[in-house]
Amino acid sequence: MKSRFLLTLSLVAAALTGAVTTLAETLRGEGGMVASRSDLASEVGRQILQQGGNAIDAAVATAFALAVVYPSAGNLGGGGFLLIALEDGRVLAQDNREKAPGAAHRDMFLDAKGDVDRNLAVNSLQSSGVPGTVAGLLDALELHGTLTRQAVIAPALRLAREGFVLNDDLAGQFADNLEGFSRHEASLAVFTRGGEPYKAGDLWIQTDLADTLQRISDEGRDGFYKGPVAAAIAAEMQRNNGIMTTDDLSSYQPVWREPVHGTYRGHDVYSMPPPSSGGVLLLQMLNMLEPYELGRLGYGSTATVHLMIEAQRRAYADRAEYLGDPDFVDVPAQQLLSKEYARQRFADFDPARATDSASIGAGSWPEESPQTTHFSVVDGQGMAVAMTTTLNRSFGNRIVIPGTGVLMNNEMDDFSSKPNTPNSYGLIGRDANEIAPGKRMLSSMTPTIVMKDGELRLVTGSPGGSTIINTVLQVVLNVLDHGMGAEQAVASPRIHHQWLPDNVRFETGALSDEVATALRAMGHKGLNGAGFGIGDANTIVKDGAMLEGVSDPRSVGGVAGF
Ligand code: GLY
Repeated sequence: MKSRFLLTLSLVAAALTGAVTTLAETLRGEGGMVASRSDLASEVGRQILQQGGNAIDAAVATAFALAVVYPSAGNLGGGGFLLIALEDGRVLAQDNREKAPGAAHRDMFLDAKGDVDRNLAVNSLQSSGVPGTVAGLLDALELHGTLTRQAVIAPALRLAREGFVLNDDLAGQFADNLEGFSRHEASLAVFTRGGEPYKAGDLWIQTDLADTLQRISDEGRDGFYKGPVAAAIAAEMQRNNGIMTTDDLSSYQPVWREPVHGTYRGHDVYSMPPPSSGGVLLLQMLNMLEPYELGRLGYGSTATVHLMIEAQRRAYADRAEYLGDPDFVDVPAQQLLSKEYARQRFADFDPARATDSASIGAGSWPEESPQTTHFSVVDGQGMAVAMTTTLNRSFGNRIVIPGTGVLMNNEMDDFSSKPNTPNSYGLIGRDANEIAPGKRMLSSMTPTIVMKDGELRLVTGSPGGSTIINTVLQVVLNVLDHGMGAEQAVASPRIHHQWLPDNVRFETGALSDEVATALRAMGHKGLNGAGFGIGDANTIVKDGAMLEGVSDPRSVGGVAGF
């Protein structure tokens, strides 16, 4: 359908470095827009909008479709966060993050020597938190949608029941994860044909998942959290050393929270509050950067990049110390979000020198995988949804619950299993994020909505573990400071620093040789190699009545709209 609209496939040159040329997919229109990691899922959302559904209807349909067509991160067995802008300008945040099961305990991933057992923390059924996605989506639909549950689940159900043709991207992901799937018969049955991974061009049918979706369509949340699906999850837990029970499942509830809100150069920025660290860190960094004229200093200049790194270093240090589930620990969000705190925190900023991370507050280089996914939706009435959802690592713990088609998350690794010891993303944490029964693990997911004078301006978010927050920061800065349109704002190369390890990572083209040399001379560490993708920020920018949706060129995906 894209050909009916003003579709541009255009070359985007990174503004000042001129070193990178990227192909971004952009779609413009005024009627409604969905940008996601899957063209099939975006198309589902578009159809719902064109049937008269609002942004919530389209977002819920897109999220269920992603569980079918993008199973490495789209999910029924995981959790996420939703940010919703209503027509009247109010912004709501819904937390459907997984929770630690009732039998979880602080030291559950420590071995006899007191070290974190990484295999247990990411590959076992104990690594799964109680899933929140299904409850969250249905709750959002009931409260703010207009279509029936059956109508918004029907497209996902059809894609699972009738199948869809696998592209290179998905077939490649299945092949890359074969070893993990091979440890579990039910996973092998879903992702391979007799042990051979499906190939691009194959029709992929997921009958068990279709049956689960049918139950949810018929019975609502009870179709997942009670009855045969819940019983199958609990039975598999019992068989394989897991701890989640049917009580854990039936008692799961999503939580509506006050979004974090801040201002940046006359714009209102809304994002996800704890148990995500994303919104707090994003606003902290914006507050630290606001006194400096980044627009004048320029995208990619030594001064701008130095400022960004120093803001990132300080905000990520606070993450480790202060952030956790606000239902369990006292998170000093108001203090962290104040402009005065940002001023104090940045008082030791030296425009000529890098700060040593050790002086601010230990770690390893985190590997990146295509875990987590973000999509953005805007409808013709000005309602918008930013949703980031995940199984944590790619395909979670790669364990499919027999008979359900449901892949389980390994989100328990987002807790701090041992103080000051890095998790999968190299992130360290302390007591605020220690494991406790019923607690939500700290996240970096940062679904974000920016408004100007009550009008929608920007809907964004990203996957990428610890890098998520910095990706969102840079999309926001590119639009608000550097005056970029949606396409260039998303395509422009990114940098990342997370306090520890004290290293700057950057994408090819983010830094010219001259800027990299200058940063090294100032004492910044890392900066040795570039070239890998940071984030996948499927974004919609609104300019007047015009919507511009962008599927991040770092991966395949799609924008659909009208
Ligand atoms: N599992 C990645 C995150 O929530 O930040």
